[in-house]
Amino acid sequence: MGRLAAAQCRALLACLAASAIGARAVATECVESPGRVLRACVSVDADGAYYEVFRGARTVIARSALGITFATGSNGAVTRIESATRRASDSEWQQPWGEQRVIRDSHAELRLSLAGREARPFDVVFRVFDDGLGFRYEYKGIRPDEDVAIVDERTEFSLVGDWDAWWYYARQRERDEYLYHRAPLWEVTVAETPLTLQGDHLYLSFHEAALVDYSSMNLRRISERTLKADLMPWSDGVLARRTGPFKTPWRTILISDTPMGLADSRIELNLNEPSVLSDVSWIEKGKFIGVWWAMHIGRWTWSSGPQHGATTEHAKQYIDFAAEHGIHDVLVEGWNLGWDGDWIANGKYFDFRKSYPDFDMDELVRYGRERSVRLIGHNETGGAAENYERQLQAALELWEQHGVRTVKTGYVRPNGSIERTLPDGSIAHEWFAGQYMVRHHQKVVEAAAAHHIAIDTHEPVKDTGLRRTWPNMISREGARGQEYNAWARPTSSPDHLTILPFTRMLSGPMDFTPGIFDVTFGHAQINERVQSTIATQLAEYVVLYSPIQMAADLPENYRARPDAFRFIEDVPTDWETSRTLDAVIGEYVVVARLERGGRDWYLGAITNGTARSLEVPLAFLQQGARYEAQIYMDGPGADYRTHPESLAIERRIVGRGDRLTLALAPGGGQAIRFRRLAS
Ligand code: NOJ
Ligand code: CA
Repeated sequence: MGRLAAAQCRALLACLAASAIGARAVATECVESPGRVLRACVSVDADGAYYEVFRGARTVIARSALGITFATGSNGAVTRIESATRRASDSEWQQPWGEQRVIRDSHAELRLSLAGREARPFDVVFRVFDDGLGFRYEYKGIRPDEDVAIVDERTEFSLVGDWDAWWYYARQRERDEYLYHRAPLWEVTVAETPLTLQGDHLYLSFHEAALVDYSSMNLRRISERTLKADLMPWSDGVLARRTGPFKTPWRTILISDTPMGLADSRIELNLNEPSVLSDVSWIEKGKFIGVWWAMHIGRWTWSSGPQHGATTEHAKQYIDFAAEHGIHDVLVEGWNLGWDGDWIANGKYFDFRKSYPDFDMDELVRYGRERSVRLIGHNETGGAAENYERQLQAALELWEQHGVRTVKTGYVRPNGSIERTLPDGSIAHEWFAGQYMVRHHQKVVEAAAAHHIAIDTHEPVKDTGLRRTWPNMISREGARGQEYNAWARPTSSPDHLTILPFTRMLSGPMDFTPGIFDVTFGHAQINERVQSTIATQLAEYVVLYSPIQMAADLPENYRARPDAFRFIEDVPTDWETSRTLDAVIGEYVVVARLERGGRDWYLGAITNGTARSLEVPLAFLQQGARYEAQIYMDGPGADYRTHPESLAIERRIVGRGDRLTLALAPGGGQAIRFRRLAS
């Protein structure tokens, strides 16, 4: 059988054909998505297993290798398909909190058991949805007492045609805290995922799901159009270590003709296991304020001394403000011993049980209780994972005793320098997202669940949808957030906010810390301050999803703008459904979300440095209902460079048949609450 017959075989989907292309024996199995949009085929020949992905007549992924290489044992190519099992699944499940309550999981599954005379047998499982797919390897034949070391993951993604990538180099000092660049695929060296590509009316995003006890995956370009899995190694060069039997994380590809289709895909969650927590009533969503921005802009310090931020007095002022504005949580950073001196270098000396003398936690808990305000705990580790693990139980007990429901953790430390003590007492240096840290974060979230505490990690391993299994993994940073607008030189350019929804945000919620009203905080230079208008800061609450959202600015700046702060008071953080309405990556984005347990819709729109006018049909509103649109828009003369604080607030009665024209200033945005009127 030649090429033609192989193509016919693919078209027939469920064919198992032993054939010969030249000297090669080829067996191929295909699986099609439920709506027949995508088709994935796996073939085996003398060189091993490979796969292809088609969208209609278009080849999206051409012949690309599959499999893993181990340090020892049989590493030859699989040469035959032992068995093929198909399963179709169409179900719904509910998120306890999220960007969408009811999630549909409609996919077709193909499981192939692959073997060969010189090979270690494995299963490859493909799940194909209409908007993308995932595949993983399962090594069932490895025994529980057998330690295996993975030295190569052969997975490739061979593209066809010309693509531009939205990417940054993966192994940099500040981990994932970088701006994305648009560049031709051939400029990519090693990219962090989600890696988003666009080309010829198609958008792709490569990532992984269910990263458990394995190393995080980057993508390395190995030829003009081929990317290859590049796992973050252990310090000794081994990529991952397991005992058997084990499954790898899913390798995922989202495929859509629009950027909106990427943002609204739920494949990432669907490929994770259902929740292991039966009672999640203790998990708190909502907004919080905190002793935080004042340190980033240099007014207060984390360390002790005359400018110490985390004092009982300051924290009480924040609790008062929270209580006045219906906010239920206050974060206080810099409360515990260990911040004096170089805390990044000395993370191993952080004490997670002892407060500075001017911070009285008991008193604050008492004060907060009277005002229905809780503390959000803070454990900055300086990347000293061992020190944190030693104190973990005690730290979690302390928080639990004080009625804390959410703890923000932090791992500020140059990438590749996480210290791990070896049995002989010497120190190895690990990557922030290698298997060592993947295990560490899993330990923390599991221990926290036992104490009814949710974790919000900064400098984390990237999200891979584990919040489905562990809903107390409430949020994380894992990108360049608002903090860079306080101290980076230069601060983030306006296009960053229009790229994040189609890159980092595809992996899950982000604790971006939105809502800075005093965007200049005394700085005249544009690249030394927040590069946006106030309306954009409001729109961030809708555009950048997180179940916990900070109102990040100083209370005094909110008190000065009660008109604008009203939107932050009103906007929820938990949604019935979410729709990305319109976008050009890097230029603008428009998102609408329906409040969970409510009837109001919210809309956020953000543009880059260019002013624009966007027409938005309100077709998402309920048929027959009327709404008061409370519109927070860029005001007269608004411009992020010259007049960022200009904000206008308008009210209009609208319905589903109406359209709104959103006028966005340079670096501007718009935030709208559609308050449903009684009918
Ligand atoms: C970096 C975090 O991203 C930031 O939010 C925090 O304030 C500092 N580390 C100190 O922990
Ligand atoms: Ca950070």
